[in-house]
Amino acid sequence: MAGPDRRISISRLLANGVEGNPVVVNGWVKTSRFSKNVSFVHLFDGSTPKTLQIVLPADADEELTKRLGVGAAVQVTGTWVASQGAEQALEVLADSIEVVGDCDPTVYPIRKSGKKQKGVSLELLRGMPHLRPRTNTLQSVFRVRNALAWHIHRFFQERGFLWIHTPIITRADAEGAGEVFPIGNAGEFFGHPAFLTVSGQLDVESFAQSHTDVYTFGPTFRAENSNTPRHVAEFWMIEPEMAFANLDDVIALAESFIREVTVAVHEQCADDFAFFDLRIQKGVVEQVKEAVSKPFARMTHREAMDVLAKSGQDFEYPVGPGADIQTEHERFLADEVVKGPVFVTDYPVEQKAFYMRLNDGGDTVAATDLLMPRLGEIIGGSQREERLDVLVAQMERRGMDPSHLDWYLDLRRFGSTPHGGFGLGFERMLMWLTGMSNIRDVIPYPRTPGPFTL
Ligand code: 4AD
Repeated sequence: MAGPDRRISISRLLANGVEGNPVVVNGWVKTSRFSKNVSFVHLFDGSTPKTLQIVLPADADEELTKRLGVGAAVQVTGTWVASQGAEQALEVLADSIEVVGDCDPTVYPIRKSGKKQKGVSLELLRGMPHLRPRTNTLQSVFRVRNALAWHIHRFFQERGFLWIHTPIITRADAEGAGEVFPIGNAGEFFGHPAFLTVSGQLDVESFAQSHTDVYTFGPTFRAENSNTPRHVAEFWMIEPEMAFANLDDVIALAESFIREVTVAVHEQCADDFAFFDLRIQKGVVEQVKEAVSKPFARMTHREAMDVLAKSGQDFEYPVGPGADIQTEHERFLADEVVKGPVFVTDYPVEQKAFYMRLNDGGDTVAATDLLMPRLGEIIGGSQREERLDVLVAQMERRGMDPSHLDWYLDLRRFGSTPHGGFGLGFERMLMWLTGMSNIRDVIPYPRTPGPFTL
């Protein structure tokens, strides 16, 4: 007879373990409690927010128990048995515990220093990105991050969108999406300047003009010096692009995308969301479910500015026709006016990038931002300018040299179609789902202005 699976995860054991069967299970000690009669160790391995209870033999060796403090890596061999405790139905009755990797609790930086004491603060944990994934909060964050990525791909794949791997090293510095990071030795290497990409959009547009429905999902870089809880210099962006599509199609896609992905992630990570609801932000699960349960609102930039001007609110930044919608305005619109997600459309042409389609009248473009309660902008998108002459005029108006993007103009010369898409900030979506209030805590290794070690 084959022995037990020596690498069964805690999640699989909890779901499928057969009472009475032998088990071998690996993990790190979350807590341990030793007494004369019975001793317990709780293990985690990242597969679930639940810990696994291990019951030690009564005669457990004192030298061994000393080594079973928080953080130690262990392998347990035992039997999957009914538990006496109320916290869990089943537990492992250990025959033996092997300490695979010791962890000295007196110097372990993320140990809890007392039963009732709270864990190390999120801020302190940012200084140890290599250890923080072991804490409850970051454990849940990265499980949800994984599930979100998976369901995003699933959403597009099920609809026939092709995933296009747009480059990270690009030549374009003029998308208008913000400051770029230049690549130091590009001149010697390529014979011209090159930059880390600020967006895969322009590159993926070529593929929309060949494969119709496409998307990119990859890292994006912006050297903007904004030290806010919602900005990082390196983040992940999802950018679908559709040919034969107008702004209404873009908005319809964005809305079903947010709704379906949210429902799927909630389903897959229900236990993690229960944690966020309890420990990070009370009511976040209900709030998010409620937000996606009804149609998203829609208003033009002009209407938004009217509402803001008439609100009587004391905003830091000015409001009125032609004004920029700032974060404070975004939140007010989503939190107070609409009380849910809202697409703002038809922005003043001066505020937006050259590639956005000019509306009739010439004052506004067919752009949209999706604003979320609590967070503000999560998506930016548009219908693209498919008319060669208008596009060239838009570039010249912004002082760009159209010859630098001649390849992009080719897409308008040869079989141009109305097309459009959007960009979702992956980390912003995670913040919205989990209630985590700082973007640095939903990305493995945050990059922000200032030095980093890891
Ligand atoms: O609105 P943005 O700049 O749009 C684009 O880059 C377009 N090319 C997208 C497209 O139409 N294909 O950025 C899109 C989203 C924002 O709504 C925001 O969620 C996120 O990317 N984002 C950031 N997230 C974290 N840190 C930053 N510095 C971000 N800048 C933008």
